[in-house]
Amino acid sequence: MMKKIRVGIIGMGYIGVSHIEALRRIGFVELRAVADVNFELAKRKAEEFSIPYCYSDIDQLIQDPEIDAIHNCTPNFLHMEVNEKIILAGKHVFSEKPLAKSSEESAHMLQVLDEHPDIVAGVNFCYRMYPLIQDAKLRIAQGEIGNPYLIHGSYLQDWLLYDTDYNWRIEPEYSGVSRCVGDIGSHWMDTAQVLVGSRITEVCANTVIALPVRKKPTTQVETFSTNANTDYEEKEVFTEDYAGVLVKFENGASGVFQCSQISAGRKCFIDIEVDGSKASLHWNHEMGDRMWKGNRDKQNEQIMRNPNLMMPEARKYSYLGAGHPEGWNDAFKNSIESFYRFIRDGKKRGVDQADFATFEEGHYIMKLTEAIIQSGKEKRWISVDKHA
Ligand SMILES: NC(=O)c1ccc[n+]([C@@H]2O[C@H](COP(=O)([O-])OP(=O)(O)OC[C@H]3O[C@@H](n4cnc5c(N)ncnc54)[C@H](O)[C@@H]3O)[C@@H](O)[C@H]2O)c1
Repeated sequence: MMKKIRVGIIGMGYIGVSHIEALRRIGFVELRAVADVNFELAKRKAEEFSIPYCYSDIDQLIQDPEIDAIHNCTPNFLHMEVNEKIILAGKHVFSEKPLAKSSEESAHMLQVLDEHPDIVAGVNFCYRMYPLIQDAKLRIAQGEIGNPYLIHGSYLQDWLLYDTDYNWRIEPEYSGVSRCVGDIGSHWMDTAQVLVGSRITEVCANTVIALPVRKKPTTQVETFSTNANTDYEEKEVFTEDYAGVLVKFENGASGVFQCSQISAGRKCFIDIEVDGSKASLHWNHEMGDRMWKGNRDKQNEQIMRNPNLMMPEARKYSYLGAGHPEGWNDAFKNSIESFYRFIRDGKKRGVDQADFATFEEGHYIMKLTEAIIQSGKEKRWISVDKHA
């Protein structure tokens, strides 16, 4: 029997646990260890999920000779440092997004990777892994909706609506120069680029800090939870709550997206529409098993995720028969599984085509994010250099 790929996870916060659950669904990997600076948390998770080893010191996990690949689920400010350590230890790395705090950091990671051609490196842009996004990508590539003219949509949340809402993401030292664009706009841009098979090359943005002062709790608050009743200190806010962004794609298509963390009632409202010369496709993650096809001269259509009717190459992203809902957990698993299939099949970074997001793609999203912030400040279009 083939040897399983042995895995460790660093960071047991909000997203770390989703990584555990996804890994447990993949038959050819074995979760060996977890680590968190909060050792009590790591221990609790290791016990809950029967994970054999648990560390407070991430270097111990990274140096464990029985581990082949490591997931980095730490906050953004640690992505570069931890990813670099993983690469230098000769292990495959699967990093949470955004890839870094800045494009300087992500460029540095690419340099480090250059010295380690056998290492596979992935970034968890998981929305591209929805079966219907993969299906739509193939439909668009095969000309079903004609020439894509427009790509538009949004990613809206409400978890930072009140000035009492606080998280490390508010502070640039932990989050990076951008908050809303880096955190969720990045997912939209990745999904849009994958859908139309083309990069965004120009941006023009309006970035807004709607709450210039927030109440930072004096005790720690978990991601996506509320803290209205705790003691606080007032903190000036330097990162955007909202961005509205005009975009131009390399293939000539134009579009617009908005991202917000202050839209009451919107939780993870990511939607995207591609309008082509023959038809349009629209998808919303909160109803991820459905896709709308808009026609000019006949009735519009409702497309359901149905492995029997999907584009054949998109079927591998779907598990259940039509009618049994699939969602974020499944797309998330696809993202991680495709990374491990790549390793298992002996594929090489930069040689073989990956369907998960690569570090190169993660770096490009960092450059787009910075261009959006710069555009918001300078109130003008900014071009992004594809090659730098
Ligand atoms: N792909 C997605 O859809 C998705 C969703 C949510 C979060 N994320 C990303 O995941 C990352 C983590 O976000 P989160 O919401 O889970 O944050 P979180 O604050 O809930 O968890 C972060 C964890 O890292 C631990 N940590 C901090 N410093 C550490 C250190 N030096 N060594 C080891 N562990 C350390 C913290 O104790 C905490 O448990 C972020 O980069 C975020 O953008 C991605």
